[in-house]
Amino acid sequence: MKPIRKAIFPVAGLGTRFLPATKAMPKEMLTVVDRPLIQHVVDEAREAGIEHFIFVTGRNKGVIEDHFDRQFELEVTLKERNKSADLKLLAEDQPAAGSASFTRQQSPLGLGHAVWCARELVGNEPFALVLPDVLVQNKPGCLAQMIEAYKQSGDKSNVIAVEEVPMERIHQYGVVGVGKGDGKTFPITEMVEKPPRDKAPSNLIITGRYILQPEIFDLLAKQTGGAGGEIQITDSMITLSKTQAFHAVKFEGKSFDCGSKVGFLAANVAYAMTRPDIAPAFRDEIKRLVAGEDIGRIDQGHLRTGKLTDEEWPRLTEAIERLRNVS
Ligand code: G1P
Repeated sequence: MKPIRKAIFPVAGLGTRFLPATKAMPKEMLTVVDRPLIQHVVDEAREAGIEHFIFVTGRNKGVIEDHFDRQFELEVTLKERNKSADLKLLAEDQPAAGSASFTRQQSPLGLGHAVWCARELVGNEPFALVLPDVLVQNKPGCLAQMIEAYKQSGDKSNVIAVEEVPMERIHQYGVVGVGKGDGKTFPITEMVEKPPRDKAPSNLIITGRYILQPEIFDLLAKQTGGAGGEIQITDSMITLSKTQAFHAVKFEGKSFDCGSKVGFLAANVAYAMTRPDIAPAFRDEIKRLVAGEDIGRIDQGHLRTGKLTDEEWPRLTEAIERLRNVS
């Protein structure tokens, strides 16, 4: 069985949902806490054992290439100032020489077309496809879990990460139908891209992580437009599933659709909460925001003992009322 050594990251999208932030800056460089989205997914791929990172970029995306290169001026300055922790951080994130490749999708023809643009860089071996819009928070990461499942699924098999979503959101995603599995991995019996709710085979959506066999490239070369008029990877996967097995993995972890503003903001909160250097102060800040300034102006000792002053009681009542409205 060939190992999964390479991962494709399609990063050519225009990011119109984040204008004006993405007018001059790629959406993949938006930060979740202090790491760009693209860095988070590269971290996940690295942890899963990926050795070669292939970015399908577009015009205006040059800064992504810069991000994965060295920055000599910065390094020299940090060295002069003895900022060894910052230097260490940069060195750890630095991909090894020759382990990152960049190619351009010249026209925005769809995800399937973006993947096809990487065919020469992937060659004749199975590969991972990771969409940077989706973050999955878990250790081990989503891709590492999929590679484990892939090792059990036999040669020439394909593995897709799936999760359940409420039916009212189903039309935004690729959707799979599955057969009987072991609770975590299931044989895929059906796939459809962005179906209307009544045509969806289940509430299981494709979460933006794939392990695919290279035979997909010949199918993508011939693929005609599907949902939204775009060349869809899902449509070529449907054809490939006639000759190769497809498995769905219900991964462990929480996913964030960072292509949406709410998902992106939620990811920032969730990731900040796991950072020992910022979580305590951040949690207090969030509490204060949610409950208004009122709670911050109540003496903590009074709160613990319940012996509030006459000014503090109405503040507490107000804060509780606000919290109630939030939940
Ligand atoms: C793409 C895929 C879709 C998948 C989704 C996950 O859609 O085509 O099957 O469910 O990513 O985010 P897009 O978000 O590019 O429209």
